[in-house]
Amino acid sequence: MAASSHSNLVRVLILISTIASCTFLVSSSNNFNRDVDITWGDGRAKILNNGELLSLTLDTTSGSGFQSKKEYLFGKIDMQLKLVPGNSAGTVTAYYLSSLGATHDEIDFEFLGNLSGDPYTLHTNVFSQGKGGREQQFHLWFDPTADFHTYSILWNPQRIVFSVDGTPIREFKNPETVGVAYPKNQAMRIYSSLWDADEWATRGGLVKTDWSKAPFTASYRNFNDDKACVWSSASSSSSCSSITNSDGGQSWLNEELDNTSQEKLKWVKQKYMVYDYCSDSKRFPQGFPPECAFESA
Ligand SMILES: *[C@@H]1O[C@H](CO)[C@@H](O)[C@H](O)[C@H]1NC(C)=O
Ligand SMILES: *[C@@H]1O[C@H](CO)[C@@H](O)[C@H](O)[C@H]1NC(C)=O
Repeated sequence: MAASSHSNLVRVLILISTIASCTFLVSSSNNFNRDVDITWGDGRAKILNNGELLSLTLDTTSGSGFQSKKEYLFGKIDMQLKLVPGNSAGTVTAYYLSSLGATHDEIDFEFLGNLSGDPYTLHTNVFSQGKGGREQQFHLWFDPTADFHTYSILWNPQRIVFSVDGTPIREFKNPETVGVAYPKNQAMRIYSSLWDADEWATRGGLVKTDWSKAPFTASYRNFNDDKACVWSSASSSSSCSSITNSDGGQSWLNEELDNTSQEKLKWVKQKYMVYDYCSDSKRFPQGFPPECAFESA
């Protein structure tokens, strides 16, 4: 174990140092004033409580959004979100990592609103080198509008794991051995936005946004990027070697799902998954994409 994590680490360090430079931060508690830029919405995105809280709103004129100041090349990043309550049909709250551009890498969480009492759909996708189409969707085992819940992305050279309150809901394993690209050499920034997508979001566009309920609000807190490799194209030396600050050997850079986590993942897939591109045989009559062979059962 120790030997193999060590060699993984060495590989990662070589990879990182050949591309550019990366810094591990041992950061204090998060502060949205320090960590993000509000990017659009003309005052509809607000940082509150001295940087502890961020809210996005959507009304008939506009949605709103923010992005992280930092870019990352691998990490284990947490954010707590409380979604638009009540009748949120037609609204979409997106929270994702992206490198942008035509050949972008991207790791997506999107929360599709619903009528009061009907479940949100949590939509996930992974893009590598501009290619996505890898949707998996879930309902949640709680009401995501009643309180804050933690949504996490573990992204390391071997796998991407989407988790909700520490329960993994999806694992996307590096499929390069079957010739499919994997996000590993483009730094990504965090983006989030709340916007109107009633053309398609709720029951495929059948349920429209009820603007009499506007403004719609989603809230964010407890952003944590302590376990991440922060990309810096300006700096010349790689500081990712300070990975030794991680907990006794098993770091997020080579983290995998232990048996308990795999059991939880199985539970989510059985009870809460509502769409999986890897079992949509109508969509792939000629056979599933090669990475589907890596899907954990
Ligand atoms: C909304 O609720 C309906 C009925 O339960 C469900 O089929 C659908 O998946 C939910 N989510 C969306 C985004 O339509
Ligand atoms: C995990 O499961 C495998 C077999 O499925 C077993 O060999 C191994 O001992 C288990 N590990 C732990 C920590 O329980």
